[in-house]
Amino acid sequence: MKKQTQFGLWLIVAVALVLGFSYASRARADIEVPGDAKPTFDAKCSSCHGKDGRAKSLHAKHVHARDLTDAVWQNDVTDERLFNSISNGRNKMPAFKKKLSEAQIDELVAYVRRFRR
Ligand code: HEC
Repeated sequence: MKKQTQFGLWLIVAVALVLGFSYASRARADIEVPGDAKPTFDAKCSSCHGKDGRAKSLHAKHVHARDLTDAVWQNDVTDERLFNSISNGRNKMPAFKKKLSEAQIDELVAYVRRFRR
């Protein structure tokens, strides 16, 4: 085999590998772990509450988003109220019952609980 042909073949193999890997990792990112609401929270809630739930951004302060890590508040609220607030909204927080399934809201309630400090 000529040196040039050989190099060309290696190049094709390398490109195929890179494409294959990036496709595989993208496919993996689409798979949500059951019960893990992180992707949903990051996509729909973090703009106001922050990815860490602490609501520290300017926007969060502007809408008076709640600090979801507050232990005193966490002790006070029931899962039922969290579910209702996410479903129906509360003051400046929008309702999510048309955008999310009940199962997703259940997962979010559990996820919000994990923010507790
Ligand atoms: C547009 C900004 C905004 C978005 C987006 C948002 N929230 Fe809120 N959230 C708020 C505000 C403001 C409050 C405080 C409401 C109040 O006055 O008690 C709040 C309060 C809450 C509370 C406390 C409710 C209670 O009963 O005390 C929870 C839990 C919550 N948000 C979860 C979420 C989840 C989960 C999402 C994503 C599905 C989300 N939020 C998206 C603004 C937002």
